Amino acid sequence: MITADLAGKRTLVTGAASGIGLATAEMFARCGAKVAINDLPRNPNLEAEVERLRGEGLDVIAAGGNVGDPQDCRRMISQAIADLGGLDHLINNAGTPGTKSPVPPSDLDAIDEGFWDRVLSVNLVGPYRCCQSAVDALRESNGAIVNTCSIAGLTGVGSSTAYAATKAGLINMTQALAKALAPDIRVNAIAPGVVDSPWECQWSDEDQPARIARVPLKRAGVPVDYAESILFLAAGGAYITGHTLVVDGGVTA
Ligand SMILES: NC(=O)c1ccc[n+]([C@@H]2O[C@H](COP(=O)([O-])OP(=O)(O)OC[C@H]3O[C@@H](n4cnc5c(N)ncnc54)[C@H](O)[C@@H]3O)[C@@H](O)[C@H]2O)c1
Repeated sequence: MITADLAGKRTLVTGAASGIGLATAEMFARCGAKVAINDLPRNPNLEAEVERLRGEGLDVIAAGGNVGDPQDCRRMISQAIADLGGLDHLINNAGTPGTKSPVPPSDLDAIDEGFWDRVLSVNLVGPYRCCQSAVDALRESNGAIVNTCSIAGLTGVGSSTAYAATKAGLINMTQALAKALAPDIRVNAIAPGVVDSPWECQWSDEDQPARIARVPLKRAGVPVDYAESILFLAAGGAYITGHTLVVDGGVTA
């Protein structure tokens, strides 16, 4: 496991009361950063996880807010930056599948306008809103942004066609923002494969073993596998920008 000295650094992680985001927030805080943990205000895990980490002596604060809501998202980012006293790392990790079970690509009618609105607003416009609101603070610190995408965005195969398209958009936006914000701010992304997390959309018990059997490393990625790659891109990787790091146990190799 890699580590870094993040004493004096300030990090905001969205969608961080669970899974990849929580592991990332915890890893950055253990490295010495002060970390704002964002999640939906109604998610009871948010306060519970902040309490748990504070109980371990880590410097974390709650930053409740919905990145899918334009006003609430901007309010949350400004408040978090004020509470942290600036910002060095923005980790755009919040995401939604928009469905509790995978939608077969052939079922075009299952994806209606409401579905598109939900996944686009959280998975694609959400990170843009966060970047827009955080850009001044990140410029001041010569900071870094890391977006959580998905291999669905590279392959078109995921929980739905709409979800995959939002992640493809986020990979593209990572490149566009990297160029737009250089040389002050680096912008990168990770593309997870199979993730062992409490993700809203679960594959059936029959499908899951086959999904894992297709992974050359023969296991699902655990949240710290992804957190470590985010740490590398945010705190290291000084000459890397516009890149999407595939972290998938070899699935897309
Ligand atoms: N689980 C997978 O199979 C998988 C695969 C590839 C990529 N990803 C991506 O990884 C990221 C993290 O997912 P995870 O697997 O850790 O799942 P998770 O469900 O454990 O974590 C996602 C968190 O995001 C929060 N969230 C959802 N909508 C939000 C919003 N509008 N505003 C703020 N917070 C919000 C949820 O409440 C949840 O706590 C997501 O962007 C997801 O698209 C997941």
